[in-house]
Amino acid sequence: MSAGTLKYEGKGKRLFTTNEPGVLIQQFKDDATAFDGKKHDRIAHKGVLNCAISSFFFTKLAEQGIRSHMIAREGDDTMRVYELTMIPVEVVVRNVAAGSICKRLGLEEGLPLARPLTELFYKSDALGDPMINSEHAELFGWATVAETTAMRAMARNINQALIGLLQPVGIRLIDFKLEFGFLDGEIVLGDEITPDGCRLWDAETGRKLDKDRFRRDLGGLTEAYAEVANRLNIQVETNQGD
Ligand code: TMP
Ligand code: ASP
Repeated sequence: MSAGTLKYEGKGKRLFTTNEPGVLIQQFKDDATAFDGKKHDRIAHKGVLNCAISSFFFTKLAEQGIRSHMIAREGDDTMRVYELTMIPVEVVVRNVAAGSICKRLGLEEGLPLARPLTELFYKSDALGDPMINSEHAELFGWATVAETTAMRAMARNINQALIGLLQPVGIRLIDFKLEFGFLDGEIVLGDEITPDGCRLWDAETGRKLDKDRFRRDLGGLTEAYAEVANRLNIQVETNQGD
């Protein structure tokens, strides 16, 4: 299947049409952005690593009956996906306090939460992805309460599935963000699951293995993502050396 015209370009990915209706090619870019695009850089191999890691998680979730938009891996940095009608509400799951919840509620980074917490954000770069609740989503027509309830339930299941994969390889899942959309009337997982949209800490040392390395200028982003892939036994072709 050949990639057709560019349909959509986001900060971390591109979507291309294909000759099959309803099927797109999702390409993972090397671009790294933070703070709603205000900070931007290109990180060698990030696209290939993220594609490999997201394919791995989508495949494992499918084995547990959790549907995503992925059909199959295509190339090093591309996957074939179903075109979804996206819901403009991001679902964040937190197991440990970090990032925006620390600022918002004055919590110390690293505080374990008594149970997984889900939060909703309105997907809008212009507004800086503000936090919302299910009433906002319903009132403004982004998702019904039944739909946000379903997304939260799926997000909790995905949290358990991801912990089941990461804990045995010594990685703590601190938090992550998911996006969902409709496929033939059913809510399925879209977007990606990569260290760009998760916080992953080494279980022993607390070392950050995610995009906070970029946000906080810690360096070693590619190495950290490669380590996540390596621990999960994911094969990645990155032509090391360039
Ligand atoms: P936060 O601490 O900035 O709210 O982010 C929580 C987690 O969700 C963190 O792993 C980053 C991810 N996230 C994104 O990737 N994109 C987003 O737009 C948001 C709001 C969160
Ligand atoms: N929430 C993202 C981040 O801070 C926004 C972005 O990628 O610009 O990493």
